[in-house]
Amino acid sequence: MAFLADALSRIKPSATITLTQKARDLKAEGRDVISLSVGEPDFDTPENIKRAAIAAIERGETKYTPVPGIPQLREAIVAKFKRENGLNYKPSQTIVSTGGKHVIYNALVATLNPGDEVVIPAPYWVSYPEMVVINGGKPVFAQTKLEHNFKLQPEELERVITKKTKWVILNSPSNPSGAAYTFDEMKALTDVLLRHPHVWVLTDDMYEHLVYGDFTFVTPAQVEPALYERTLTMNGVSKAYAMTGWRIGYAAGPEQLIKAMELVQGQQTSGACSIAQWAAVEALTGPQDHLPRFRKAFEERRDLVVSMLNQAKGLSCRTPEGAFYVYPSCAELIGKTAPSGKKIETDEDFVMELLATEGVAAVHGSSFGLGPNIRISYATSNEKLIDACERIQRFCASLR
Ligand SMILES: Cc1ncc(COP(=O)(O)O)c(C=O)c1O
Repeated sequence: MAFLADALSRIKPSATITLTQKARDLKAEGRDVISLSVGEPDFDTPENIKRAAIAAIERGETKYTPVPGIPQLREAIVAKFKRENGLNYKPSQTIVSTGGKHVIYNALVATLNPGDEVVIPAPYWVSYPEMVVINGGKPVFAQTKLEHNFKLQPEELERVITKKTKWVILNSPSNPSGAAYTFDEMKALTDVLLRHPHVWVLTDDMYEHLVYGDFTFVTPAQVEPALYERTLTMNGVSKAYAMTGWRIGYAAGPEQLIKAMELVQGQQTSGACSIAQWAAVEALTGPQDHLPRFRKAFEERRDLVVSMLNQAKGLSCRTPEGAFYVYPSCAELIGKTAPSGKKIETDEDFVMELLATEGVAAVHGSSFGLGPNIRISYATSNEKLIDACERIQRFCASLR
């Protein structure tokens, strides 16, 4: 339509949202569908956090807030970074936005000029490249390999950095692969970045608390303090506190960048929801005892799903360190034919046929920039996961 902006033609809809909606539509038609496509915990927001929100409403905390967030939440964020990441920030170096997505978006609006490059390791969260494109930047993909457990290697990072690189986006644990960097793996990347002082680091630590076994989470500014001056450390309450609908994300970084993001936000959405900000204060400063419970449940589910998927003929699935996704390869099944007569030529064909025949919604890896794979979210009950994995096994066995 001539009325629409030219830029719109460069933006793809989110494959994750598209598949989740397809699954919803099939369910509405009465089909028995299990959705493994959504990126949110199935747990409810912890009770103390809900209570804090109700108390905030009753106290009348229902007005506009300062654009970068209420002072109490900015203090809680400062304390969180100190306590959990050994990072020292002042409240003026923090900003609260309407979800982690909004934080990243504002950072890109505030910094990108036409043609600026943003390095994004693939597989990537679907929104990074689109947000870069909307803001006139150019996504530059760094490739990872299955044999490196989908972790970016220093040589590849070195290869893709140019004079035009403005940001490198790192995301550990990763959506969609679940891969997380150890201290040494992260140090190898920060060593490369030290050699390129014009490049800034946007680290998306959204899944920080969802790591399993004895894995220890690290973030770039902590691993390499010399990068502190050019790192935006982003995080949020959506995943670890089961608060996806509350829409609170935050970041800390150099004051000048934060001020620029505040300027953008001030003309865009203003401060985030006052009530959700008070809930987030409780999330960050209140009891954290739900976290071991969430982690235990997710770890059990991860192990269950990895084991069952590896028993599906033609799928091969590594055990990721964190988040709530697995990213099995379906390379061996490409070229096979389903009982319906449909030939599986791509991972997208695989997920569409799986949804049509067995009613299991997963997302194709090619939409995250690395395939043929499928992304499965295991943030659902063990019962449903077992049922879904049995259907996937049956589907794989039916391919000829
Ligand atoms: C890697 C990653 N970053 C950021 C977000 C966005 O978080 P929020 O819901 O707080 O906007 C998500 C949500 O799916 C994510 O997976």
